[in-house]
Amino acid sequence: MTAEDPFAHLHDEDYARAFSRDWTAWRDLLDPGGRACLPLDGDWAFTLDPFDEGLRQRWYALDDAAPETWTVPRDYDPGGAHTVPVPSCWNVLKPEWTHYEGAVWYAREFVHPGPDRDRAAILRFGAANYAARVFLNGVFLGAHRGGSTPFCLDAARALRRGANRLMVHVENRRRDDRVPMSHFDWFNYGGLHRCVGLYDLPAHHVRRACVRWRDGAIEVDAVLSPEASGSMRFRVPALGVDAPMAASNGGARARIPAAPELWSPERPKLYDVEIAFGEDVFRDRIGFRTLAVDGTRILLNGAPIRLKGACVHEDDAVRGRCTDDADIDRRLRHVKELGGNFLRLSHYPHDERVARRADAVGVLLWAEIPVYWAIDFANPDTYADAENQMLELVARDANRASVALWGVGNENADTDARFAFMARLAEAARRADPTRLVSAACLVNREKFRIEDRLAAVLDVVGLNEYFGWYEADPRDLRRLLANSDPGKPVLVSETGADALAGLRANDGRLFSEEKQAGFYVDQVAILRECAYVQGLAAWLLYDFRSERRQTRFQRGWNRKGLIAEDKTTRKLAFGALRDAWADWR
Ligand code: GCU
Repeated sequence: MTAEDPFAHLHDEDYARAFSRDWTAWRDLLDPGGRACLPLDGDWAFTLDPFDEGLRQRWYALDDAAPETWTVPRDYDPGGAHTVPVPSCWNVLKPEWTHYEGAVWYAREFVHPGPDRDRAAILRFGAANYAARVFLNGVFLGAHRGGSTPFCLDAARALRRGANRLMVHVENRRRDDRVPMSHFDWFNYGGLHRCVGLYDLPAHHVRRACVRWRDGAIEVDAVLSPEASGSMRFRVPALGVDAPMAASNGGARARIPAAPELWSPERPKLYDVEIAFGEDVFRDRIGFRTLAVDGTRILLNGAPIRLKGACVHEDDAVRGRCTDDADIDRRLRHVKELGGNFLRLSHYPHDERVARRADAVGVLLWAEIPVYWAIDFANPDTYADAENQMLELVARDANRASVALWGVGNENADTDARFAFMARLAEAARRADPTRLVSAACLVNREKFRIEDRLAAVLDVVGLNEYFGWYEADPRDLRRLLANSDPGKPVLVSETGADALAGLRANDGRLFSEEKQAGFYVDQVAILRECAYVQGLAAWLLYDFRSERRQTRFQRGWNRKGLIAEDKTTRKLAFGALRDAWADWR
């Protein structure tokens, strides 16, 4: 019997495991690496299941007999369910589902030639918010938690020739032991909100490969299918690299001297990279660059860089948490039109296509996991969830030149438990990836009125969320704070902003007017650019976004701090004001 379900002992092992803690870990992650898959996006059967009845009654084990043949009654059949598109968020599909927070069932069939001892069959989900339990032909394949990172499951043991039924139990319940906890300033979209595919690979294949440039050489760290061994080739044709590698016991490493043109926002140079291993060929397009801090400066390829840009939620008025290439390209284009080079992907891992597109167009990114505000910092299982999300993000985006910073948290009240949790998380990120910078939105010591957070000791860059001129009325207090502080590290204003309702115009300084928001940024930039240790500014934020916490007549369920309205088209005065105010801030 598990704490979550008193009925677990009444059912079989698969059922019990469905309530167990054997969550899929980051180690199982497969990088598509340019390999084809059987896409499983499209129409799925969909049913709400507020009380997890489907787990108790084992809906996943039902056959697909037609109702007229039933000899005993049932409470579920995919044929009687709704039909929804995957990827999607159920909240935006029907008005009655808008505020549903609970469990649902997705189901679909696909045809397959059946299991093959010489082939691997790997199901890959781009993300499911918040927790998912996956069943194939009635067999429990595994579970995953964390609403914004990909996860992979071995499907071979349950595959059959012909029609296969895939069922996924997804639930987006707010819980105090989750990451994020139950209180956050964005909309709790639920569902299979990113792509789903079945990868058919040789039994011995490349699961993922981290390829980076460090100290004059390209370093390759390939993770293979378990126990895989044999010869490989690592190629970067444009650099004339074609190097042998030796795989043993599921891994392979190499270090190959090379002198690539380095990637930068101005010159986002990418190289086609290939790893051939038996029949399997892993491919990626990779930019090579270095990141470091030097005193209070941030260095890209050894030269100081100023990060100017905005934060953005993955939120859409029509599609909720779902995105597509056009939406992503618009996000990046708007940053460039702001005269920016930087985007903070708030407050959870965004779609993996964002970093790939940012590589191509030259925008640096801060990527983060939702260790946001209050978290159950003393709970070891909560830490395990946070660390798994962090390591899934690091593994997923390892080859993305655009990803410059890993964010390990945002505005978390200081306690010993919080410090231990986040210091351990920062160390886990740095151990997994020593080539990027680690940051967090840190705290201000209010008594001394200075930037002071013991967490900064384990960070490379201090993130500062400040709202002087909005939540704290007098912008001049920002100047006082900066003068009082001596962080000894680069400070990046990781958030600053003010609300404005698009179209509300007034020159009397009233809150929520476009003029007030525009003036806010003029004041901010004038003060920030005076401070030598401030290395950049991420406006909060690019677009208005849904947040039920915001219920004035100006907001009505939306956070209005966007430089652009939620239509992602209507620019507010602040967009031009910020662009002009920082144009010569190098
Ligand atoms: C906070 C928080 C954001 C929030 C913003 C706001 O700093 O990090 O998630 O949306 O302020 O109040 O708009």
